[in-house]
Amino acid sequence: MLRKTPVAALALALAAGAALAAVKPNTPTPMPKVQAQMKDVVDRTSTDLFNTAGEADPANGPDAKAPNAAAWARLKADADKLKSVADWMLQPANGKTTEANWTAAAKAMSAQSALASKAAAAHDAKALALAANDLSDTCTSCHKVYKKQE
Ligand code: HEC
Repeated sequence: MLRKTPVAALALALAAGAALAAVKPNTPTPMPKVQAQMKDVVDRTSTDLFNTAGEADPANGPDAKAPNAAAWARLKADADKLKSVADWMLQPANGKTTEANWTAAAKAMSAQSALASKAAAAHDAKALALAANDLSDTCTSCHKVYKKQE
């Protein structure tokens, strides 16, 4: 038994190595923990942020719908939650942090969420619309590489 253990351990290590090598970088693979964050947090908060920022955009002229104090607070909370998920995805246990495409998209999501949070805190509709727009680009840049297109 004792003599066999190192051989078994080596075989296991080799099998694990082969399994890791079989996962191609820059491809969509099931990421259940990421999917749960997207479903439970990112979808809802980003939908609210994108819609409200779009309505508030001063580029709409007289039709721009200025958020009230409660809406500004909600927008800031949305942005802060999105930043938390982005930073969570930058941890090796949660995201594909060895891949440049992943890291760039998650860092950009974190940076744009931070800008959106700052804009919401300052009640700055123009800056919020800009950040929301740039934030949505970060979703696309990650999804086009890592999310299965159906
Ligand atoms: C760094 C990568 C990354 C970024 C940035 C990112 N996502 Fe995702 N997202 C994923 C991956 C990977 C999946 C697929 C997970 C799976 O199905 O296993 C996904 C799935 C989703 C889903 C589908 C969830 C479901 O019900 O199956 C939604 C909705 C979503 N993302 C929204 C967003 C939005 C909105 C943003 C930007 C605010 C965003 N994501 C930014 C990686 C990312």
